[in-house]
Amino acid sequence: MIIIINIDQNDGSWYTADRENKRAQTNTSPIFSRKDHLMGSLIVKNLNVSIENQPILTGVNLVVPQGEVHAIMGPNATGKSTLAYTIMGHPKYTLTGGQILLDGRDITGLSPEERSKAGIFLAFQYPVAIPGVTVANFIRTAMNAHRKAENPGDKGIPIPEFRKQLIEKMNLLEMDPSMAGRYLNDGFSGGEKKRVEILQMAMLSPKIAILDETDSGLDIDALRIVSEGINTLKNSNLGILVITHYQRMLNYLKPDVVHVMAEGKIMMSGGPELAQRLENEGYEGIKSTEAA
Ligand SMILES: Nc1ncnc2c1ncn2[C@@H]1O[C@H](COP(=O)(O)OP(=O)(O)OP(=O)(O)O)[C@@H](O)[C@H]1O
Ligand SMILES: [Mg+2]
Repeated sequence: MIIIINIDQNDGSWYTADRENKRAQTNTSPIFSRKDHLMGSLIVKNLNVSIENQPILTGVNLVVPQGEVHAIMGPNATGKSTLAYTIMGHPKYTLTGGQILLDGRDITGLSPEERSKAGIFLAFQYPVAIPGVTVANFIRTAMNAHRKAENPGDKGIPIPEFRKQLIEKMNLLEMDPSMAGRYLNDGFSGGEKKRVEILQMAMLSPKIAILDETDSGLDIDALRIVSEGINTLKNSNLGILVITHYQRMLNYLKPDVVHVMAEGKIMMSGGPELAQRLENEGYEGIKSTEAA
């Protein structure tokens, strides 16, 4: 498998590594001009984002192909969640430049709902409660909206089929079936909220799933169960972008590429060994070798 390891954040040139043959190849033409990467990928092109006139992202370039797992690591407040929210279309984040493409289609102007229907999923760092709406109803409503977007005549997923799928995915994540009847995130523990996020991902089968610190708040067993659950969902049609501060979830998810974000930009990209280096040396250690 040939994996794009690094994109020059200034000129879009890139290099690949062929994992099996350990060959690396440098390409000076911008990655975005490669037609074969336009399909089946999330492409973030020179993204500039402000919040209340304060620039947060200052030129992020990223390609996450379906079938690959990419990780983003980086110090607090560098814009990782901002990137995730912007890809999802949160109205609070103002795009001052750049473009987001999914499957070759420009989704920059779409609403969050339309992006969800197009196949983007975000597991929130801080999931919000919706008292009065059960987990099951919330997920069924989202699934039906997706089905209707595919086929306007769709009558919705039959309840028995929905229940069967829901129970299967809850078993996969070792969740108590009674959770399905509780109000979404209302009084849920930190770990329960994170599990419900992944349950939604499992039910919605997105093309690109962004997991924003899904590992935080999970105990050691839950981390393994949830990570193994995510691994069973991996397939050639699913690209995963996982935002994390720690190596531990990456030990399970085995990312193809690790990106380091700092000060609103992707500073460095590499293979899974980069996460290990960060764990050993910290961001300061990496920065000083870059400067040398
Ligand atoms: N709604 C908002 N209003 C004002 N400032 C915001 C808002 N959202 C984010 N910011 C600011 O943008 C910067 C980037 O925040 P962001 O949440 O993207 O960081 P992060 O990299 O995800 O950090 P962490 O690792 O702590 O989750 C921070 O300085 C934050 O205070
Ligand atoms: Mg964050």
